[in-house]
This record gives sequence, structure tokens and C-alpha cells, in this order.
Amino acid sequence: MERKELLYEGKAKKVYATDDSEILLVAYKDDATAFNGQKKGTIDGKGAINNRVTNYMMQLLEKEGVPTHFVEELSERETLVKKVSIVPLEVIIRNISAGSFAKRYGVDEGIVFDQPTIEFSYKNDDLGDPLINSYHALALKLATEEEIEIIKEIAFKVNDVMKAFFKNLKVDLVDFKLEFGRLSNGEIVLADEISPDTCRFWDSETHEKLDKDRFRRDLGNVEDAYAEMMKRILGE
Ligand code: TMP
Repeated sequence: MERKELLYEGKAKKVYATDDSEILLVAYKDDATAFNGQKKGTIDGKGAINNRVTNYMMQLLEKEGVPTHFVEELSERETLVKKVSIVPLEVIIRNISAGSFAKRYGVDEGIVFDQPTIEFSYKNDDLGDPLINSYHALALKLATEEEIEIIKEIAFKVNDVMKAFFKNLKVDLVDFKLEFGRLSNGEIVLADEISPDTCRFWDSETHEKLDKDRFRRDLGNVEDAYAEMMKRILGE
């Protein structure tokens, strides 16, 4: 499959056309941003790690019956995915309090919930991805009622699969963000990435942070944390 013109450059990835109109090529970068792009930096090796970790997770989820956009890993940093139109929602599942949840509701990080929570943000950088509920999503016509139901169902299923998977790796899955897309036939599939950029991972024993919070909060050893997660997930 040939890489053609650059269609879109995001904060962490570039998206190219291919010679198949239904397939796109995603190339992962080492660039890192936080706080809606206000903090900028580089995490050496991140692009390759996030590409390989995402593809591993997408394939694991496919095996468990979750539809995804994954097609084929081409190289260390490049992957073919099905072309989708992205649903402009960031879907966040939380198992343990952290980040904006702890801040918004004035609670400590590390409270283990009896059941997972789900929340939606309107994916809009100009507005700073504001938190919305499903009625707002309907009012804004970001998705249909049926699509929101499917998205919720898939998101909780992803949580069940990932929680169990990471428990085996001695990692607590604190929270994560998912994005969904529509195929040309309207089917909703999991899209974007699943990586230390988009999940919070805490070592089950030491509670050490093994994710992008090390970059967001200037905790140091950012590259080591990404490499440690790749090692635990892929065994290398
Ligand atoms: P939050 O606590 O800052 O709302 O983040 C919740 C989860 O979503 C966390 O695992 C990090 C991830 N996330 C993204 O992937 N992209 C984003 O832009 C934000 C704000 C969070």
C-alpha cells in the first residue's frame, strides 16, 4: 500500500491517504502536548511505542469482539487503518479517581470506584474539549441516540477487557480516553489510539505512574515509563 498525500497533522500523529480510498495510513510522532497544547515537548521513542502498543491493544480487543479501525502494522511508526469519520466525542472511562475528576470534584487521587464511570467531552480544541452529557451530544448532533448507546456499550466492554489484561501485568488501569469513528456503511468502530498518552497506568504494587502524567506533571523518567509499559505489554 503506497503512502500518498498528507491529509491531516494532529498533535501526536499524521494521517496520509493511500491508494485505497477506504484505507488511511497513520504515522506516530514523538511530539507530546498537554493542557490543550499549551505545554509542548518531545518524548523520545514515544511514536514507535504508542504505535505498537495501540496495535497490540486493538488486536486484543478485536479478538474479544470489539470492532476497531485497525488494518495492519506497516512499520515501527506506521499503521494502516480503516477510513472513518470521527465522532467528535472523547469518551473517558474511569476506575480510580485521578486527573480532572479529582480536581473537579475535590477528591484525592486513588479512590477505587465500586463501578466504572463514563463521561463525554466535546472534541473541540477551540473550546478546550468541554465536558458534556449525552443529551448535549444529541442536541449538538454529534451522534445519534443509537450511536451513543453503542459507544457506551463498547467503551465498558473495552474497560472489562483492558482491566483484566493490565491486572495480569501488575498495572492498575486508572482511566482512559477512547474515540470512535463511523465507517462508510455507518458502523461504529473504535478508532484513534490506546497508549500511555491516552490511559493512566499505575504500577499495582508501587503505584508509580507509568503514563503521560509523568510529562504533564514534570515527574521525570518519562521515556522510561513508556518503555516499561511497552515491555510489560509486548514482552520486550
Ligand atoms: P483527565 O483526568 O485529564 O480528564 O484525563 C482522563 C483520561 O483521558 C486520562 O487517561 C488521559 C486521557 N486524556 C487524553 O487521552 N487526552 C486528553 O486530551 C485528555 C485531557 C485526557
